[in-house]
Amino acid sequence: TDPAKVKLGNGADVKGTRVRVFGRVHRERKQKELVFITLRDGYGFMQVIFSGILAKSYDILTLTRETSIEVLGELREVPPGAKAPNNRELHADYFRIHDIWKAAGGEEAITNRVSKDTEHATLLDLRHLTLRGEHASKVIIVRDAVEYAFNQVYRELRLRKVSPPALVQTQVEGGATLFKFHYYNEEAFLTQSSQLYLETCLPSMGDVYCIEKSFRAEKSLTRRHLAEYTHIEAELDFITFDDLLDHLELVMCRVLEVTMADPVIKQYIIDLNPEFQMPERPFKRMKYSEAIDWLVEHNIPNEDGEPHNFGDDIAEAAERRMTDIINRPIFLTHFPVEIKAFYMQKDKEDLRVTESVDCLMPGVGEIVGGSMRMDNNEELLAAFARENIDPSAYYWYTDQRKYGSSPHGGYGLGLERFLAWLCKQHTVRDCCLYPRYFGRCKP
Ligand code: 4AD
Ligand code: MG
Repeated sequence: TDPAKVKLGNGADVKGTRVRVFGRVHRERKQKELVFITLRDGYGFMQVIFSGILAKSYDILTLTRETSIEVLGELREVPPGAKAPNNRELHADYFRIHDIWKAAGGEEAITNRVSKDTEHATLLDLRHLTLRGEHASKVIIVRDAVEYAFNQVYRELRLRKVSPPALVQTQVEGGATLFKFHYYNEEAFLTQSSQLYLETCLPSMGDVYCIEKSFRAEKSLTRRHLAEYTHIEAELDFITFDDLLDHLELVMCRVLEVTMADPVIKQYIIDLNPEFQMPERPFKRMKYSEAIDWLVEHNIPNEDGEPHNFGDDIAEAAERRMTDIINRPIFLTHFPVEIKAFYMQKDKEDLRVTESVDCLMPGVGEIVGGSMRMDNNEELLAAFARENIDPSAYYWYTDQRKYGSSPHGGYGLGLERFLAWLCKQHTVRDCCLYPRYFGRCKP
């Protein structure tokens, strides 16, 4: 009878036992009497050794990378001085390769199609193959752990998960980045944010969160903008702005703790980002007006090449330089009304600014945007007028202010940006399975 089928990760290291494994040939090295392969199955890597007649068999002699293979054999500790994943090797005594499992060698081999010098656009066309690489797959595996950790931490904090619609008829973050489409006989959009819907859940469901796709028709090619991204959003009832900041800091740190508690994931993060350190708490808190002064002092100009003035947008380049110099997470707060979305609550002590926060991370810049929400209907209607938005489509949103309004707030975190920071990736495009951005909708 066949021994138990095992995955290649940590669970499979009971030395001396016979096991049966499946995987793809990640590397192979042929010697006179022995053939070594590194097998890969998404759970880990294992060194497999073929000797004797197996090493001389046609299929093993012609084995190409990426070929799928089933191996039976005995797990042993590696001899002193030798190196292998998890310090163990599988001594094969039987294997199976079906004809259709064989990967094309030579010119068509994946390693020839995807080399270090392959152009970025080609690499993206070949994303389905580059995903087989160690680097690309580690980022996606860490992503899974992080998403899972957010779910766990929100549970701990008693937030409930809901699932708002992706097809909507209202904008949240400005008309310029709306994807419009024909919805039967009406006009509709792909959602930019689930925030407004989350707000409608508060009265009867308590604090809520969602992990959904958001869509932005961004027309610029930057390293942190996608057309489709995963948006982690939460909304909290009966809170103050300070409560919101404390919650956000807690969630981010707790998510990192939970993620790093898994030794395999922790190792992947260290492999990807050797300098990673847990952020120091409390996060630096800085008002927008202080940031403007800081940018002027450091001679970092605005988008027109002029010194920053109160009221200017802090553009991506300036934001990133500031974050890189300060080199720790920053809660940037109290942005002017004019440069922020219609729904943001004004600061009672300074009506020029809003109770808003962006969380900035070194290497990436903004990864979270949040605020307290306007809870007064009159004020909200005035804000719609200011932005030239027809309030009639928002009847369900304004109703929240008519039937038992409350002080509430929330935020949205871009999962790909969080990962770009955590795994030190140059671009968010490498932090999702199949990136979508200006000019790319394949594979
Ligand atoms: O700052 P944003 O636009 O805020 C909102 O959408 C709020 N309604 C969220 C809320 O309060 N519930 O987006 C929030 C975050 C950004 O900080 C960024 O991390 C990410 O979403 N994000 C993008 N990520 C990738 N590609 C894009 N085009 C992104 N636009 C925003
Ligand atoms: Mg923002």
